[in-house]
Amino acid sequence: MTQHFIVIGNPIAHSKSPEIHTLFAAQTGLKISYQRQYCPDDVASFTAVIEAFFHGGGVGANVTVPFKQMAYECCAARGGLSEHAKIAGAVNTLLLNNALLKNGTPIAEAIYGDNTDGQGLVNHITSLNWPLKDARVAIIGAGGAARGVILPLIEAGISELTLANRTLSKVTDLVNELSAASETIANQQIKTCSTEALSGAFDIIINATSIGLSGDTLPLNDALSCGYAYDMMYGRALPFLQHFAKRGAQTSDGYGMLIGQAALSFERWTGHKVDVAQVIDSL
Ligand code: ATR
Repeated sequence: MTQHFIVIGNPIAHSKSPEIHTLFAAQTGLKISYQRQYCPDDVASFTAVIEAFFHGGGVGANVTVPFKQMAYECCAARGGLSEHAKIAGAVNTLLLNNALLKNGTPIAEAIYGDNTDGQGLVNHITSLNWPLKDARVAIIGAGGAARGVILPLIEAGISELTLANRTLSKVTDLVNELSAASETIANQQIKTCSTEALSGAFDIIINATSIGLSGDTLPLNDALSCGYAYDMMYGRALPFLQHFAKRGAQTSDGYGMLIGQAALSFERWTGHKVDVAQVIDSL
C-alpha cells in the first residue's frame, strides 16, 4: 500500500524533500508518495491543510518556512510535542499520536509534533567523522536555527558551548529561557558573547545565522580559530566557510543536515533506517 507524505511551506516549489524521500523509499523498498504542499501563511489555512491531510489517510508531514512555529502551537494544543520540539520551540515533523487515537481521540486532536533538525545536524557532523564528544563548540546565531541544535549538541557529549550573536540580549535571553526549560541545558553552563567578541580556539564553530542568504559577512574576530567550521545554510558559496577554510579548517555546508533531518523524519514515520551517506552521494 502506498504511504502518503507532504512537505508544507510557502514558498515550496524549490523544496528538495520529495526527491530525498523518494530515494529513501527506493532504498528501503517502501511504496510512498511525497508531495509539495503550498499553504497560505495563516493559522486557519495551515490547520485546514494538516487536518485534511491526516483525515485523508496521510502518514506524515514535514513543515518548513514559515510554518515551524505555527506547527508547534498547533501540536501543543493537540496531540503533543517531543522533548526536542518543545526545546526548539518549532516542529518540522508531523505525525499522529497513536496512543491518543487508541483512546478514541479524533484524528485532528491527535496531530503530534517532533523536531529532527538538531539531531540531523549531529548525525551529519558524526558522519563527517568530526569529533563531537568532549568538543569545545561555538554557535553563532540566536534564532530558530540555533535554538534547535543546542539540546542535540549537548546530548552528543560536547564539553563546552559558547553562543554568540549580533544582538547580545537575544542570546542571553535564549540561554536563560532554555536553561529554565531543560536541566540538561542548565547543567551545560553555556557562555554567551557578541559575535565580534567571540575569540579563542574551538574544535567546531557553527554558523546558525541567516546571513548566508544576504551576501553580508559576519564580523569575525582575528583571534577566533577552529578545526572544523559548519554553516547550516547550503546552495551557494558561503563566506563563513571560506574564511575558516583559508585558515586551515575543515568545512561543511548544511546540505547533509537537510538529508539528515529528512532521514530521521522518514525513520519516525516508517520505522525504517536509511543510509544517509548513500543518498548524499546520489544527489
Ligand atoms: P532562523 O530561524 O533561520 O534562525 P531568525 O530567527 O530570523 O532565523 O534568526 C536569524 C539569526 O541570524 C539571528 O541570530 C540574527 O542576528 P540578530 O539576533 O542580531 O538579528 C542573525 N543574522 C541575520 N542577519 C545577520 C547579519 N547581517 N549579521 C549578523 N547576524 C545576522
